[in-house]
Amino acid sequence: MTEQVSRRSVLRGAVVAGGAIAAGPVLWQQPGHAATRPSGIHLTYGADPRREMVVSWSTPSSVRHPGLLLGDTSGELTQMIPAESVPSPGLATVQHHVRLSGLDPAASYFYRAVHDGGTGDELRFTTAGSGGKPVRFTAFGDHGTAAGKLAPVLATIADFRPDLHLHVGDLSYASNTGGLRAIESVDSLYTPQEWETWLAGIESVAARIPWLPVLGNHEMEPTGSELGYESYFARFVPPANGAKGPPGATWSIQVGNVGFVALDGNDASAEIPRNHGYLGGAQERWLDATLAGLRSRPGVDWIVVGFHHCAYCSSVRHGSDAGVRDAWTPVFDRYQVDLVINGHNHLYERTHPVRGGQPTREAPRGATVDPATDGTTYVVSGLAEEDETIPDRSTGPVSGLTYYTGADGGLRVPEATPWSAVVDELSPVVVCAEASPPDRTGDTTLRLRSIDASTGTVVDELTLARRTTK
Ligand SMILES: [Fe+2]
Ligand SMILES: [Fe+2]
Repeated sequence: MTEQVSRRSVLRGAVVAGGAIAAGPVLWQQPGHAATRPSGIHLTYGADPRREMVVSWSTPSSVRHPGLLLGDTSGELTQMIPAESVPSPGLATVQHHVRLSGLDPAASYFYRAVHDGGTGDELRFTTAGSGGKPVRFTAFGDHGTAAGKLAPVLATIADFRPDLHLHVGDLSYASNTGGLRAIESVDSLYTPQEWETWLAGIESVAARIPWLPVLGNHEMEPTGSELGYESYFARFVPPANGAKGPPGATWSIQVGNVGFVALDGNDASAEIPRNHGYLGGAQERWLDATLAGLRSRPGVDWIVVGFHHCAYCSSVRHGSDAGVRDAWTPVFDRYQVDLVINGHNHLYERTHPVRGGQPTREAPRGATVDPATDGTTYVVSGLAEEDETIPDRSTGPVSGLTYYTGADGGLRVPEATPWSAVVDELSPVVVCAEASPPDRTGDTTLRLRSIDASTGTVVDELTLARRTTK
C-alpha cells in the first residue's frame, strides 16, 4: 500500500481606497537606540485576505516612532501608519505590527518599515483576489534555522509564487523541549534568539508572501505562563476569528475558492499533555460551525485544514495522535474536508483518501481523487533533515504507533497503516498546491505537487477533483 522514495546519499546539500487604513495603537514604546534596522519582516493575512494584511518586524531594541510607510503602484509611499510594539519574552528585541484594513482586492502595495533613524527596504505585497483565478499555496511544518531548511526551501516557495504559505507549526525551535513539562525548565534547551534568527532567515520570502502559522508543540515555551505562547503571539498576529480562547490560536480565511482552517493541536494532542483541553471544547464547537459555514458558502469549493500533530502518520517517532484523530476526523468526514496538512513527524507522508478511519481506495502517486465520494487526504510535511533519526523502512511499511490515553499521553498502541500511500523520510518537502476555479461545467481541481527542496525532485503528485455545488 505504501510507496517509498528511495534513500539518497547526497540530499542536503499605498494609497488606500477611502483612506480606510486601521492601525493598532502604540501599546509599548520606550526611548531607545535609533541606529537599528527593521529585521525579520513578515506578512500575515487578516481575516479578510482581500482587504487586510498584517506587516510585522523586529528591532534589536526599542525605537522611536516605529511605523509603516505605505503606497500603491504609483510609487509614492504616501501614508505613515504607526506600529503596535510589544516586548519579546527573554530578549531585548521589540516586535512591531501594523494591521492594515480597507485595502483593495488583488492590489499591490509598496511598503517600508521605518522608525526614527532607521529604515527597511522598500517591499511589496499583493492582496488576495475575489475569486475566478487559480489559488496557489505552499505548506510544511517543523522548520528551524538549519541551513538545509532555509535557502532551498525558501527558493522552492519563491519559484512556485504562492498566494500564501501555510506553516503547520514548530516554527523556530527556540524551545527544544517541545512542550514537555518535565524538562521545560532546562535553560540550555531554550534559546529565544532563535526566533530572531529564524525570522531573519525567512524574510526574503515572508516579506512578500503572507505566512499563515499554526501552533506546534514547540511553541509551548518555558516562559512561566500556563500556555507558553507569548513568543509566538509576540511575533505573529493571525486572524482573530477563531474559537473562544487566545486570539489567533485558531483561525479561518477564504482565499479565492479555498477555505483554510487552522487548529491548535496542543489542545487536542494525546501525546503531549501540557495544553491538552485548555480550550474546554470551544475548538470543537468552532470547528463544526466553521466547516459547516465553509461547505455551504458560495464561492468556496475546497476546504484545507492545517494543524500540527498528525492524525495519520506511520512514523515510529511521534506516530499518529489519537487525540486529534478522535476529536476531529469525524468532523472532517461530516463536511467533506478535502485536504489536511500536518507536521510534527519530520518526514513527508500522504494517505489514500480516508473516511471513517479507513482508506476508501488506492491513490498512488499521480492519482486523481474525488474527495466528495472518496474522503479526506491527509498529508504530513514536517521538514526532514540529515540528522533525523528515523527507522529504516526500506524493508516495507512498518506499523505506526498511536497514542490512546487522552490527557496523560504516552501509551503507544501499534496499529496497521493501510491508509499510508506515499512516504519520503529524508527530504525537506514543500507541498505546492494550486486550486483552479470551476470551469464551464462546474469541475474544479486542487493539484498537489510535493517537491524535495534539496533536489527539486517531485516526490508526490495528486489531483483532487470535485464538481462545484454552488
Ligand atoms: Fe517538529
Ligand atoms: Fe512537533
